[in-house]
Amino acid sequence: MCTLTESVLYNFSQLIYENLGIKLDETNQEMLKARLNRLMLKSNIKNYSDYFKELTANKGAPIWSEFVDEITTHMTSFFREDGQFKFIQENIKSITQINQRIIQNNEIRVWSAACSSGEEPYTIAMVLKEALPENIKIKILASDISNGIIQKAQGGVYPQEIKQNVAPLLLDKYFKLKDGSYNISEEIKSMITFRTFNLMNEFPFKNTFDMIFCRNVMIYFDNKTQSNLVNKFYNFLPKNGMLFIGSSESLAKIDHIKLKYVRPSVYMR
Ligand SMILES: C[S@@+](CC[C@H](N)C(=O)[O-])C[C@H]1O[C@@H](n2cnc3c(N)ncnc32)[C@H](O)[C@@H]1O
Repeated sequence: MCTLTESVLYNFSQLIYENLGIKLDETNQEMLKARLNRLMLKSNIKNYSDYFKELTANKGAPIWSEFVDEITTHMTSFFREDGQFKFIQENIKSITQINQRIIQNNEIRVWSAACSSGEEPYTIAMVLKEALPENIKIKILASDISNGIIQKAQGGVYPQEIKQNVAPLLLDKYFKLKDGSYNISEEIKSMITFRTFNLMNEFPFKNTFDMIFCRNVMIYFDNKTQSNLVNKFYNFLPKNGMLFIGSSESLAKIDHIKLKYVRPSVYMR
């Protein structure tokens, strides 16, 4: 493998920032280099500049999807940051009563906006199914920039370790143990639509979402990108719609934030 110069590394970092919104700094250089090496080996390209040219000329092609899958970090789990789900369970009555949209339409629309391998939207589906009255239809959009991870999410197959995070009652009710893995039930799957979507793009939706989950992805974005994104979310929340962010994230530095603080990492329009 040839050497990676500062300027070529900078070109890759800019490419990632401009297309994925992810801001890499010096502390990420070794990680980026290792990931680039893996990708180039896979594509049988020996030179960083050639790989860069191939990538930029073929956005949308498999080489680009593989790059996005490798650059993004997909760590997630069922019931991650459980406090938010407890908050929903405990306050479901008031959450639905103050949101006219839910009552008028007898449906709740939720967006898991960086859903990774599906644990987040499946958790949301189980929590809402347990908490809401039968007559309210649960509709969840789950999206992620990584095509590979969306395919995994759609499969809904998880290792036995999920027992550490999913309560036995829910495991029993909403999963089937098959060939040593837990398969999410069709009932829960049918509540979710999976899509590949880049949060840097304009939102193509006609309707608002009663709840938006955008957790543990804004940490990779700079302040400007976070501000743009949160303001876009604002436009897709109805009155009293809620935004859930990751517990290590904050909206404190977001310009012109119009969302009201509800509790740590939960905001309301
Ligand atoms: C660390 S995971 C978080 C998953 C889940 N929200 C959670 O909190 O457990 C971050 C996810 O954000 C996705 N992501 C990164 N940049 C993105 C972008 N520009 N648009 C959409 N998704 C993005 C990654 O592919 C990854 O699956």
